[in-house]
Amino acid sequence: MNPDAPLLFFDSGVGGLSVLGPTRALIPNAPIVYAPDSAAYPYGTKSEAKLAAHVPVLLTRLVERFAPRLVVIACNTASTIALDHARAALAIPVVGTVPAIKPAAELSRSRVIGVLGTEATVRQPYVDDLAARFAADCTVVRHGSAALVELAEAKLRGRAPDPAAIAAAIAPLLDAAPGMDVMVLACTHFPLLADELAAAAPGVRQVDGAAGIARRIAHLTRGQPWPERPSGQAVFTAEPDPALFPALARFGLSRVATL
Ligand code: DGL
Repeated sequence: MNPDAPLLFFDSGVGGLSVLGPTRALIPNAPIVYAPDSAAYPYGTKSEAKLAAHVPVLLTRLVERFAPRLVVIACNTASTIALDHARAALAIPVVGTVPAIKPAAELSRSRVIGVLGTEATVRQPYVDDLAARFAADCTVVRHGSAALVELAEAKLRGRAPDPAAIAAAIAPLLDAAPGMDVMVLACTHFPLLADELAAAAPGVRQVDGAAGIARRIAHLTRGQPWPERPSGQAVFTAEPDPALFPALARFGLSRVATL
């Protein structure tokens, strides 16, 4: 294994940074290519057919270009729709990000769990299956929000989210799930709004899969060599917005390019 072979993180936008963070903490010297599909953002309002066709093609292009050792689909929407298609298209390991319903069910005392994702994610059979397998004795209430994705994108560009907008975005979930004590952040953009969501839903625990994904990546790459120093670049599919550069730098992505 070439020590410089990167880990390729992929999302529609900045959400995958919430997955990247714990991986960086666990494997500090892993070279990172972070690829936001800014040309096709947002994913959550797109159709299954479109994403199932688009994601494997783009990932194939990225893998040809960067020769990563492993791909992380750091996006619940793309994973719940296109994970199998991506695995079939690529010859390297593909780690997906799917709603953390299992740990949420383990934590819940009230047995009422919320799943907060994109509109596309919350309607997936993949989510039905997770709920049936791991939370059969829970009431699992789903809510999709495109507004929260936009608010997370704006926050990473330095614009503080309006608390009223956050509250309005999750009000339908709170109304539909009385007694909810655990909320699955089933979109990788949402942990970037953890503080704001905690203020809007006090007392509700938030669960996401990022720490588990970091452990999975460490397991899959155990024994492989890494460079002596960390490095990271962001590779956008459309002209990048310079307002994002400071946030990217905070995640160790000091170089920015366009595919
Ligand atoms: N970050 C993505 C997810 O985890 C999707 C956001 C979007 O593009 O709608 O689902």
